[in-house]
Amino acid sequence: MSKGKTILVTGGAGFIGSNYCRYVLENHPDYRVVVLDALTYAGNLSTLVDIQQKYAGRFQFYPGKIQDETVVCGIIRAEKVNYVVNFAAESHNDRSILDPGSFIQTDVYGVFTLLDAVKRFDVERLVHISTDEVYGTIDSGSFTEQSPIEPNTPYSSSKAGGELQARAHRITYGTPTLVTRCGNNFGPFQYPEKLIPFFVSRLIDDKKVPIYGSGQQVRDWVFVMDHCSGIDFVLHNGALGEAYNIGSDGELTNMEITHRLLKLLDKPESLIKHIGDPRGGAHDKRYSIDASRLKGLGWKPAYEFEEALERTVKWYVDNQGWWRDIVASPDYQAFVARFYGKYLGEDL
Ligand SMILES: NC(=O)c1ccc[n+]([C@@H]2O[C@H](COP(=O)([O-])OP(=O)(O)OC[C@H]3O[C@@H](n4cnc5c(N)ncnc54)[C@H](O)[C@@H]3O)[C@@H](O)[C@H]2O)c1
Repeated sequence: MSKGKTILVTGGAGFIGSNYCRYVLENHPDYRVVVLDALTYAGNLSTLVDIQQKYAGRFQFYPGKIQDETVVCGIIRAEKVNYVVNFAAESHNDRSILDPGSFIQTDVYGVFTLLDAVKRFDVERLVHISTDEVYGTIDSGSFTEQSPIEPNTPYSSSKAGGELQARAHRITYGTPTLVTRCGNNFGPFQYPEKLIPFFVSRLIDDKKVPIYGSGQQVRDWVFVMDHCSGIDFVLHNGALGEAYNIGSDGELTNMEITHRLLKLLDKPESLIKHIGDPRGGAHDKRYSIDASRLKGLGWKPAYEFEEALERTVKWYVDNQGWWRDIVASPDYQAFVARFYGKYLGEDL
């Protein structure tokens, strides 16, 4: 076990990044965590309140963008950062269809800035969090780390651009990079535009939930704390320059997930509304992750899917203040109206 390290978690005020901060602070009592986050619509200081209270002496927050070289270098130098774990990203596929430019800024150019800073200040390791979506869609079988990178949306192509830079930096300059690729995450503190918190927050209020097309798209679901333990395992045990899939065999169609949510919340099927598919041809049919490489190194998921989903739904029921503030925000209202307005009509 590494002793007394300082980890810079970029994008740590978002969903997975904040859960990773919790994971590190709980599991490595001698580590410090420093967060750099631009606090975009998806980043929320209320997501970090419990951490700031519980781990005050081992946690530091800095506002700022990963594209800002001065800020990134200043933090790495001042905090004597050993490791960087990069979660910072524009992360929502649907938004990438409306505004692809911001995805290039953060998910491509921002990664470049981090890589250069890591090289300049001899940071020991950088783990770049990528996604299974860089592989595109697969009809049968599962993506391995050797599968071709064939992204289909502005989001997944910008993520591919970021991780390919990490690979190239390693080969060209010897920068100590690692990449992880995980499926769809669920858990506490997820911004309520993503399927599970979007549907749960609407169902609690007896609002209809929009299913794209037939709802037969398959996603490989992973509980966020399993993703976090996988990332931490890669940080400490992965081979530099390598990419690792993280998955827990959680394949379900969007309809199957929706039926489970209805059942857990005791809501009627009549709240399902099938709409046209706003992603059109860019809507990947199926993702499926083969995580046997990481499992072969000794990592394994700790959570059973149904229990983790139940726990997640309960969290949104018990923490309505957190998501109701977001749902009431002008940005959220504008996005839902712009993206779903024409489909949901009076059910909006
Ligand atoms: N959510 C998933 O299911 C999933 C699955 C696999 C991989 N990922 C990847 O994991 C990472 C985290 O995803 P998430 O769901 O937590 O996203 P999120 O949208 O909840 O959080 C992203 C965070 O990054 C911050 N941010 C955005 N632009 C920034 C910038 N330029 N500089 C600094 N901070 C910035 C935001 O303020 C926010 O706090 C992303 O890289 C995403 O591509 C997500």
